Amino acid sequence: MKINKAEFYKSVYKYEDCPRLQQPEVAFSGRSNVGKSSLINRMTKQKKLARTSNTPGRTQCLNYFNVDDKFYLVDLPGYGFANVPQKVKDDWAELIDTYLNYRENLVGVVQIIDSRHKPTKDDKLMVNWLQASGLNFLIVATKVDKISNNKRAKQKKLIYQELNLTKDDNFTFFSSQNGEGSKEVYKYLEFLVKS
Ligand code: GTP
Ligand code: MG
Repeated sequence: MKINKAEFYKSVYKYEDCPRLQQPEVAFSGRSNVGKSSLINRMTKQKKLARTSNTPGRTQCLNYFNVDDKFYLVDLPGYGFANVPQKVKDDWAELIDTYLNYRENLVGVVQIIDSRHKPTKDDKLMVNWLQASGLNFLIVATKVDKISNNKRAKQKKLIYQELNLTKDDNFTFFSSQNGEGSKEVYKYLEFLVKS
């Protein structure tokens, strides 16, 4: 897949405000600050399409991006960030939960985790939920530029173990910094959007 044009379409704060669309949607999910927005920017080759920051919790709504009028990327709010009030956390959780459960346009989820660390409790919950839901998903272990080559195999094993993945699951390492793994993510998007 080649992405020619990607543009911001809409922010959604309440599930009811999700747009009526013909095109399929692919959601990008992951812990706050894991690198969701950076991955979207890398894939669309636009440095500032999705806002990135060092402050976790920046993306607090669903952000829709129109890709070549063919499909939509949906940047989900990051989960698991401690320093926000419980009420805000509950609102995010409800929005994500409703979206993933009910959105008919949704064809698959790119689930992003940090390649450097053991998956968090929230990562596990999220992946368990995806496995039970029957939704198609790809696990992307990002920030791989920050680990040494000989640590990769160990990290991959740990991730597979902790998330109960099998060899049939889709997995790739990724780096928004040097583009490693982009090909795999493009291939996955192509598979989702064509099927
Ligand atoms: P929220 O919107 O707050 O949930 O965060 P996010 O998941 O969208 O993360 P974001 O893309 O804003 O990235 C968070 C920080 O990680 C930023 O400082 C990025 O520059 C950095 N980062 C993201 N991806 C990578 C990567 O692949 N390698 C490195 N070295 N840094 C990365
Ligand atoms: Mg973000």
